[in-house]
Amino acid sequence: MKTLLALSIGAVLTGSTLLSPAVSAATPAPYIHTQFNVTESIQQADLLVVLVPENAGELRLAGWDRASRNHINRAISVAAFEGKAGSQLEIVAPVGLNYGRLLLLGVGNPAELSRAKAEEMGASLSSWVNGTKAETVHVHSQLIANAGDNHRITAAIAHGVELRNYRFDRYKSKPDARPAQRYSWQVALATDARAKFEQKQALAQGVFTARELTNLPGSDGYPEAFARYAQQVLEPLGVEVTILGPEQVKALGMGALYGVSQGSHMKAHLLVARWRGNDDEAPIALVGKGNSFDTGGYNLKTQAASILRMHTDKAGGAAVVGAIKSLAGQKAPAHVVGVVPLSINMISGDAYLPGDVVTAGDGTTIEVGNTDAEGRLILADGIWYAREHLNARVIADIATLTGAKVGALGNAYSAIFTQHSAIEQTLRQAGELVEERVWPMPLDGYDNIVRSRIADRINTGSPGAQAGAIFLQHFAGDTPWVHIDMAGEAFTASASGIHPEGSTGHGVRLLTEWVKLYQQHSQ
Ligand code: BES
Ligand code: ZN
Ligand code: MN
Repeated sequence: MKTLLALSIGAVLTGSTLLSPAVSAATPAPYIHTQFNVTESIQQADLLVVLVPENAGELRLAGWDRASRNHINRAISVAAFEGKAGSQLEIVAPVGLNYGRLLLLGVGNPAELSRAKAEEMGASLSSWVNGTKAETVHVHSQLIANAGDNHRITAAIAHGVELRNYRFDRYKSKPDARPAQRYSWQVALATDARAKFEQKQALAQGVFTARELTNLPGSDGYPEAFARYAQQVLEPLGVEVTILGPEQVKALGMGALYGVSQGSHMKAHLLVARWRGNDDEAPIALVGKGNSFDTGGYNLKTQAASILRMHTDKAGGAAVVGAIKSLAGQKAPAHVVGVVPLSINMISGDAYLPGDVVTAGDGTTIEVGNTDAEGRLILADGIWYAREHLNARVIADIATLTGAKVGALGNAYSAIFTQHSAIEQTLRQAGELVEERVWPMPLDGYDNIVRSRIADRINTGSPGAQAGAIFLQHFAGDTPWVHIDMAGEAFTASASGIHPEGSTGHGVRLLTEWVKLYQQHSQ
């Protein structure tokens, strides 16, 4: 096992001593705990789950004798179980069946059951199963007659089971045992279904990568550690990874990216990860804010509550790494590059100051109106790099950028800003599909809010979410571009639906589906 701390950040350290953190940073861990088996046959297990459509009439499955049928159908009628989507009926020790428990799981009208709803059902199934002693689970889907629905629904439920089962336990000396059930999925035409299940597993792997990176505390998820972690998980999938260190960042003129971390020994990096899933000349670029920690800088975040969760300020960058991982894992036929500007916003005798002027890669001079508006500074250079050095044909940036966005939309929607309707449409479609919803906000008419008296522009302005967006727009030039502000979505204090507590991995599934939709659209 490689430990990252052995890596020489010494190269950028002059004279100071780095205390080694209690836990070695950023060693990828396996996060799919449950074993999956896709089959056409009925199998023995501790728990039998039967997916039941609405109006299914009397339940009968192969192998059920009269006594079992009577018992089960009587329970159904006593409990008034109708097979509504998400409804459950548990029958313990069903008469005549060789299963300890039977769980009927309603799927409503299969043709109308959304992917997101099915995932959520899988998540609640998984947390329920974790509370039982069941080690083996057989999920039976024969009552969903249409093969398309049958595959779509079972694969989505399985995805929900996996997403909920992630655990961030690398800092526990004695972690709780991870869920370790064996699931077998009885489906129609197993050979066809398997590919669907595998695609979903690749998607889940991307989400886990993003959750892990986002969950890392600031001192362990520092720019270089983040970059090396990404390299370790991406290269084995055939992704080309390039890491620019602080000297290269500086040499390329990316003074906005460099400036944010200049007060720390953990200097700026730029991660570039390319998945070449087709021979398109120009890539789709995903640019994510990778700020390892946001103290606010000299405009210090002075409230305990506002600074506490700021290790999640790298969630946009983590979403980009996760999406590239998913796309590569799925062998998606798209040429896509992930660009993650990596910083840590801290104070010291060397830190950048309110009122300083930094110069971005494209030559734009920027007055630092507030050192806490660091995200747009690092993204400015990330976006410019994607356009200028990677020749992107479209750019989507994603970031935990503004508190103003949280005020406007909470965490049910991310704000998107774009002037390209094809991007807007495909993003909204992707968002609905995976229930990581986006809502368009205006760019028109806000041009003057980031004017500076002394430099080309300033990194502050009002209204806050628009100021961030309009500031960034300039760096995309003529390249079609969208800004996604996902502040508020990165973290959940308690488990719910497909999210265990902690980092959500938000953005991975949105970006993965978006890249595929946009790719299709642009052909
Ligand atoms: N990382 C924060 C935005 C944020 C706030 C994310 C709350 C998640 C939850 C960002 O860098 C920031 O500090 N933004 C400032 C900008 C302001 C100083 C112009 C903000 O929104 O208050
Ligand atoms: Zn920030
Ligand atoms: Mn900030």
